[in-house]
Amino acid sequence: MRSRRSVLAVPGSNPRFLEKAQTLPVDAVFLDLEDSVAPLAKDEARANVVTALREGDWTGKTRVVRVNDLSTQWTYRDVIEVVEGAGDRLDCLMLPKVQDSTEVVWLDTLLTQIEKAKGYEVGRIGIEAQIESARGLVNVDTIAGCSRRLETLVFGPADFMASINMRTLVVGEQPPGYTEGDAYHYILMRLLMAARTHDLQVIDGPYLQIKDLDGFTRVARRSAALGFDGKWVLHPSQVDAANAVFSPSQEDYDHAELILDAYEYHTTVERRGAAMLGDEMIDEASRKMALVVAAKGRAAGL
Ligand code: GLV
Ligand code: MG
Repeated sequence: MRSRRSVLAVPGSNPRFLEKAQTLPVDAVFLDLEDSVAPLAKDEARANVVTALREGDWTGKTRVVRVNDLSTQWTYRDVIEVVEGAGDRLDCLMLPKVQDSTEVVWLDTLLTQIEKAKGYEVGRIGIEAQIESARGLVNVDTIAGCSRRLETLVFGPADFMASINMRTLVVGEQPPGYTEGDAYHYILMRLLMAARTHDLQVIDGPYLQIKDLDGFTRVARRSAALGFDGKWVLHPSQVDAANAVFSPSQEDYDHAELILDAYEYHTTVERRGAAMLGDEMIDEASRKMALVVAAKGRAAGL
């Protein structure tokens, strides 16, 4: 499973950002052909992205390209040019504004054809599906289960808020006037359930107030606490916060390893399913919870 604590958005039309992105300590990058690229710059962005994948040094990072959504005239050419040009240097394609499973199946089929034609390993390139509309969320269970290439669901808060007519202009924050609870709780949980049902990762989207690091951290902590695997970052200043928030604390990690060791000892040596670890009762379910924290901690190098 790839680590995706921090997922950097990089406009494909900006060669300077494509260079800079290679130097940042993010787990994943997505080179964008969609909403951060102006309609008149789409052709140029495709060429830049292919060059950046072929010639850049992306060591240690998951390499993703976000193509345009299927309501546009650009998607097929995005896929063909990027995958024919640099498919061997690419880990996943991100499909935005996914409304139903037929869109993902379309991309899966096209990828298979290109992989066969180019002699690439069939099925290696993964898919990330952005859920950013009411329709996408209503269909998220079938979307999440429709292709073996799917690796993650990604929340797109900006488009989503527009799609449901949420009355706010600040992406990621509570809508003004909504004082009871969290306006995103249902959406985030819905995505999380669909993702975990199909063993996918689930990634929170962008926080657009890039100068407000406290705001970014607060919002990131919310999705991390629920179980999300990572969040988009739009600026170098957000990277360390994302990596930290989506890694367990050293204390939690150490505790998880302790639970695993203690449980192993009690079940094998003492043949007991439930046992005490200090003041805490642990059993098989504790082991499963500890495994989640331990896996994330090991991946983060704790
Ligand atoms: C991202 O694509 C968003 O719409 O928030
Ligand atoms: Mg969007």
